[in-house]
Amino acid sequence: MKKILNTLLAILFSVTVSAQGNNYVQNYTKFEGLALTPPMGWNSWNKFGCNVDEKMIREIADAMVSSGMKDAGYTYVNIDDCWHGDRDSLGFIHPDPQRFPSGMKALADYVHSKGLKLGIYSDAGSQTCGGRPGSRGYEFQDAQTYASWGIDYLKYDWCNTEGLKAEGAYKTMAAALRKAGRPIVLSICEWGDDKPWEWGKTVGHLWRTTGDIYNCFDCVEDHGTWKSWGVMQILDKQEGLREFAGPGHWNDPDMLEVGNGMPVHQERAHFSMWAMLAAPLIAGNDLRSMSAQTKDVLTNREVIAIDQDELGIQGFKSSSLDSVETWYKPLKNGDWAICFLNRSKSPKPLQLKWADHSVEDSFAKRELNTKKDTYRIRNLWTKKDMGTTKGILKASIPGQDVLMLRLIKR
Ligand code: GLA
Repeated sequence: MKKILNTLLAILFSVTVSAQGNNYVQNYTKFEGLALTPPMGWNSWNKFGCNVDEKMIREIADAMVSSGMKDAGYTYVNIDDCWHGDRDSLGFIHPDPQRFPSGMKALADYVHSKGLKLGIYSDAGSQTCGGRPGSRGYEFQDAQTYASWGIDYLKYDWCNTEGLKAEGAYKTMAAALRKAGRPIVLSICEWGDDKPWEWGKTVGHLWRTTGDIYNCFDCVEDHGTWKSWGVMQILDKQEGLREFAGPGHWNDPDMLEVGNGMPVHQERAHFSMWAMLAAPLIAGNDLRSMSAQTKDVLTNREVIAIDQDELGIQGFKSSSLDSVETWYKPLKNGDWAICFLNRSKSPKPLQLKWADHSVEDSFAKRELNTKKDTYRIRNLWTKKDMGTTKGILKASIPGQDVLMLRLIKR
């Protein structure tokens, strides 16, 4: 009898403890089911830096719709650094009352009324990179606040984080967002310092792989204590990372500089390579005043389809010959994207016999075998069909430009 009583007491105790214990268990993982293809949208930083306000954000949302960007797939309107005002006496964060007089909830309602989503920015440290209040020590409070405003996307930066470990800091914010209960995309922005591709898959939906992009095609900008990188320099830093990306967890080579002053051939090459990388397509230009040329680049649906292919397999470089790189990306239904990137400033001739041109992708377990299979060839920038892979490909690629093709399995 005593034994039975003891057993019953033990069961009761363990049930009580585990029920109480549940209150202390956090879920340190991101929301599943978001960003199943690389996120598409816009962010204020590359063009506007700290000059953000609600009027501009509303106008950008309007322009995203009227320019056709929304129809092409762009969804997130993301406010980067410097939207912040102060914390109140209880520690709750408020937007800058001069720049955002109607408050964030009203702005989110407006953006949502256009069928778009609103993103915001914070930092795991004591202050953001722009010197605004960071979320360190306020993670759960801030996540609740963002959720109550109706925020859909959080870019979480890494300035002023002395003594913190990235994996732990980002897991804390993931748990805080979970607890707040609103599905919010978590964009890990610690510049690749602590190899987020190795631990980020369950924590966030995308992670920056490098320091900041600089608005040039092929240059390095030295700021003294840190550097920012041109399009080609960022591209080179993606080496070896493709196996870490996939639906819901993407390598992020930083936001686009398309429309911020590069000549159109460089814009085309930049956009094509981001699509080959299955990179997030976050425009960084002024959508209200972009040229027709820039708009055509950003809304090229056939190139966007390469980026957004539902298999979510990042492309890879297979060769580099006389400044021309050949990149491949396996697509659904047995299709392939091929991008020839001419990194030099002078035009380069290209001639290849398709039958001699087979590629094996052991990571994706796919083979492009033009001896066995015939593909239709589509030029994604001229938007013209170019015959089949039964023949020879002859082209000239202008300097710092691409020839981007889709091979369509017949
Ligand atoms: C860091 C990030 C940038 C931008 C700025 C804002 O440098 O990497 O993308 O968010 O901070 O201050």
